[in-house]
Amino acid sequence: MAASASALHLLPSSPAGFQPQQRRLRSNVRRQGGLTRRFSKVVSYYGLTTPPYKLDALEPYMSRRTVELHWGKHHQDYVDGLNKQLATSPLYGHTLEELIKEAYNNGNPLPEYNNAAQVWNHHFFWESMQPEGGGSPEGGVLQQIEKDFGSFTNFREEFIRSASQLLGSGWVWLVLKRTEKKLAVVHTRNAISPLAFGDIPIISLDLWEHAYYLDYKDDRRSYVTNFIDHLVSWHTVTLRMMRAESFVNLGEPTIPVA
Ligand SMILES: [Fe+2]
Repeated sequence: MAASASALHLLPSSPAGFQPQQRRLRSNVRRQGGLTRRFSKVVSYYGLTTPPYKLDALEPYMSRRTVELHWGKHHQDYVDGLNKQLATSPLYGHTLEELIKEAYNNGNPLPEYNNAAQVWNHHFFWESMQPEGGGSPEGGVLQQIEKDFGSFTNFREEFIRSASQLLGSGWVWLVLKRTEKKLAVVHTRNAISPLAFGDIPIISLDLWEHAYYLDYKDDRRSYVTNFIDHLVSWHTVTLRMMRAESFVNLGEPTIPVA
């Protein structure tokens, strides 16, 4: 699956986003006019999305073993946990983005928040990378980074520094600030997503130990440095910037079509 600009709008029913799993939630038997009729209620849940590359394609910077465990167990667990909660939740039926904002509850998260945000964060994370990624962006993305950070080197250093400053589990992000209309690096604790604050995510990097311990032990800095230098997908970033630009009307420079 190619990296998709539609990742910013993941609808439960969208074939380009999270594929809903249709299950028969319950079946029952009713008698109508002396006839026995079996009926069922069909509902849609979120499914586990697949990274847009083979599980060993990010080696040597992220091992197949790490991706298998991270995606196949941890990401899957968040999907399963969310679906289990939604089966009895009044929040069922929202898009995932809406669900994250609703369940964030102005900083007093509802029980569904953690799983919902982690499902979205992980999907966004897998698509933030590509084999033979990294290096420097080009064109409009590079111009925007230079405009907002002074230089690409400054951005790279700020991303690594921000990740290093986060104590415990969380995420580091490149976001587009909707109000200020500029790029910024932020880190968030645990499952918190910038979506809850109205920022537009452009890059996410998982800073939970399960994301890097097998490959880097507790050397988080090397993990983050290799992500920026060898894994980040500037192609995906370009598509996301194009979409974000339409939201905030950045104006010049125009982000080119990749
Ligand atoms: Fe993770």
